[in-house]
Amino acid sequence: MDSIVVSCDRDLNKISRDIYGHFSEHLGRCIYGGFWVGKDSDIPNINGYRKDVVEAFKEIDIPNLRWPGGCFADEYHWRDGIGPYEKRKRMINTHWGGVVEDNSFGTHEFLGLCELLGCKPYINGNVGSGTVQEMSEWVEYMTFGGESPMSKLRQENGHKEPWKLDMFGVGNESWGCGGNMKAEHYANLYRQYQTYVRQYGADKIFKIACGPNSSDWNWTEVLMREAAPLMDGLSLHHYTIEPDWDNKHTATNFDEKGWYLALRNASYMETLVRRHDEIMSKYDPDKRVALVVDEWGMWHAVEPGTNPGFLYQQSTIRDALVAGITLNIFNNHSDRVRVANIAQAVNVLQAPVLTEGNRMIKTPTWYVFHMYKPHMDATLLASRVATNQIGPENARIDAVTSSASHKNGTYTVTLTNAELSGSKEVSVRLAGLSGKICGTKASLLSSDQMNTCNTFEASDKICEKELSVRLISSDEVVLTVPAMSVVNLTICVK
Ligand code: AHR
Repeated sequence: MDSIVVSCDRDLNKISRDIYGHFSEHLGRCIYGGFWVGKDSDIPNINGYRKDVVEAFKEIDIPNLRWPGGCFADEYHWRDGIGPYEKRKRMINTHWGGVVEDNSFGTHEFLGLCELLGCKPYINGNVGSGTVQEMSEWVEYMTFGGESPMSKLRQENGHKEPWKLDMFGVGNESWGCGGNMKAEHYANLYRQYQTYVRQYGADKIFKIACGPNSSDWNWTEVLMREAAPLMDGLSLHHYTIEPDWDNKHTATNFDEKGWYLALRNASYMETLVRRHDEIMSKYDPDKRVALVVDEWGMWHAVEPGTNPGFLYQQSTIRDALVAGITLNIFNNHSDRVRVANIAQAVNVLQAPVLTEGNRMIKTPTWYVFHMYKPHMDATLLASRVATNQIGPENARIDAVTSSASHKNGTYTVTLTNAELSGSKEVSVRLAGLSGKICGTKASLLSSDQMNTCNTFEASDKICEKELSVRLISSDEVVLTVPAMSVVNLTICVK
């Protein structure tokens, strides 16, 4: 039997709810057709925002939303997206699909969306092709409450009060699409640009420096050495790229090898977080600077027949496992990882939600976010997993992964089972518990076949179901966990 022992006698840190953040770029149908359809659309909307999509994200308590990119951020000039719609600049989205960007979704629309969602805005500024003045004035436009040219402009555009801007990224992937810079060069630019991200009101803006691409340890070393005191967070991007990338394999068309390789690549996040944390700790032993994993998730070949520049992909239980494994890693390292954003929110890459015309479906990934919700702002507990290794020689992974937390007398244990067949008996023991288990509940996300997905015709093939729990002592329960599954176990203690 596999076992998970949760140490209940020692509270670790709080798991920041911002680990459960999302990302919306001007890419494909994420913004247009995803969050935004415009006020005149036949699709039910609230002032232009898609009602079904907004509701789906409210249901998972979205804590923050990143915008406008991604690579788009370093080509985005915020003044193009303010003022009367008819006067807004029409341009080509050169990065993503070569389509016309009419700038109808800009600063006001984004901040309005965050208000509707009840989440923190995380805006990514332009270092690659923008000036210090442009970045500085954007921040002034959004956050300055007194009299100034930018606050006057904001008021003329209909927003009297400043907004609260929670997080601001200074450049995106500056080592790649954001300017192809060397670490030392960007570190200097970061120091310069962030100086003019002024804190006008009492609300502090959390400043995020562009961090490494996956295992670029040198980038982290240089940024921390040169600029750590000037940042609140350092970003990290890591995608689980479709392992058998040959244009035949997609999100739904893969075999057992593709299953294990993908999960092995996702599990690599553990190594990334540990090693970047080690490097950061040389300069920041108190872990003041957060590791902000603001782009993560599965990146498949696009669905056949769709625009290759739109990155539209389906999602199966394999993607759900990737999400479950990754979020367990983030929870377990939440002393350092305090913000994360899955890429991307709607219709792009590992999206929790897909839309087609006036229809919307929730992908298996959405359910994982729903199941992991109780971890938000809960207290992390150490959990020790005894499990077997599975998969071919070049892709060995732990069959079971887990994370645990507690909040208001309720303990939550989330676990993933990567076995492809059979089921597993898993015991969960709350060691060092002061009190007794007084109630349990578990929910399960699973599938009989690894490539099943929810479609617009059959939208609930993969959805949360109840799973029975056997109480075997005052501090231990046993679950029969099906293959290919993600589980949420909730235990109440008195
Ligand atoms: O999420 C898609 C793209 O991936 C982003 O625009 C970029 O930052 C990354 O390379």
